[in-house]
Amino acid sequence: MRALELGIFLPNAKGGAIMSTEAPPQYFPTWALNKKNSLIAEAAGFDFLLSMVKWRGFGGVTNHWDYSLESFSLMSAVAAVTSRIHLYASVAIPTIHPAVIAKMTSTIDDISNGRFGVNIVSGWNKFEYLQMGLWRGDEYFGYRYDYAAEYLEVLRKLWHTGRTSHDGRFFKLDDCKSLPQPSRPIPIVCAGQSDRGIQFTAEHADYSFLGGQDDSLADLARLNQKLQAAARPHGKTVGSYVLLTVIAEETDEAAFALRDRFIETSDRAALQEWSGNAGQDFSRATYKDLAVQTFMAIPYVAGSYATVAAYLDGLVESGIAGVCFIFPDYENDLQKVIDHVLPLRKYQGQKLVA
Ligand SMILES: Cc1cc2nc3c(=O)[nH]c(=O)nc-3n(C[C@H](O)[C@H](O)[C@H](O)COP(=O)(O)O)c2cc1C
Repeated sequence: MRALELGIFLPNAKGGAIMSTEAPPQYFPTWALNKKNSLIAEAAGFDFLLSMVKWRGFGGVTNHWDYSLESFSLMSAVAAVTSRIHLYASVAIPTIHPAVIAKMTSTIDDISNGRFGVNIVSGWNKFEYLQMGLWRGDEYFGYRYDYAAEYLEVLRKLWHTGRTSHDGRFFKLDDCKSLPQPSRPIPIVCAGQSDRGIQFTAEHADYSFLGGQDDSLADLARLNQKLQAAARPHGKTVGSYVLLTVIAEETDEAAFALRDRFIETSDRAALQEWSGNAGQDFSRATYKDLAVQTFMAIPYVAGSYATVAAYLDGLVESGIAGVCFIFPDYENDLQKVIDHVLPLRKYQGQKLVA
């Protein structure tokens, strides 16, 4: 069986994906921390690094996501200090014209020697854009993936031709030049979970992220089948990835205790702000209960090193192409997973050099 592709969800927003007041998650999203994780991941043979884009956090005791490093400029720096690993930056499409992103992408494609791809974020949190006067009105929730489709069409025209005109519903370009062209077709990621988001991903993207329903392997396998069925009429497949928070300790009991402590010490104010913001979007599904939202409706696995390794093998058996790790403690957990979890997997397929 093939090996799972491995990636890191870089720690470029404060608090990461655990809304807890408990240390260790209280790191600041510094360049030093992001560089450290990038270099360790590359040395260990990981396949990709992805950073998210955040323009407004959720406050609370922890100022969750209030501090964040901008995704494209961060990945530009990561590109300059790495040489093999693939890199993805995220663009929140309501904030910036595609012609600007086309050129930023060509720039990082050049810096990285053809290792760069783009995560399309249609925008689920209206307050990130409202604060800038860039919110198109609540109707946008209903058509944000139509907007994304045209946005991507413009990007691809500019990348493929270096010069294009376009007269669409949302964008008008008049003999717009964008040189240099990137060195290769730019891989596109989209993590849309709604029906329309999955449809967009199936039709237009190369890679998706599944999750947010329940975290069982069976559910992820079912979502993968749904995605592939949606992609089939377009004559393609989509690489299915899972964003996964990993709480790995020596024993199951220790890991469960840590997980329970994160839930007990949830940042209730930030959680409420987050679910209130998410609840504005009528196109999104409803959420899990508030306690589990401590993990932000992102799949997580908690357990001993062997339990986590077995879960990763289960992802392979469920047809998942890769996993993007989130850690509670980005100072130490990546090395811990490399040293103690990854060697226990059945499906290795690549040499991991810590
Ligand atoms: C791996 C991953 C990365 C994401 N990156 C971002 C991001 O950078 N910024 C953001 O606002 N949303 C981000 N999202 C949210 C998705 O773009 C998407 O809006 C969300 O999964 C809900 O799906 P929907 O848009 O179909 O409702 C991410 C989600 C995942 C799983």
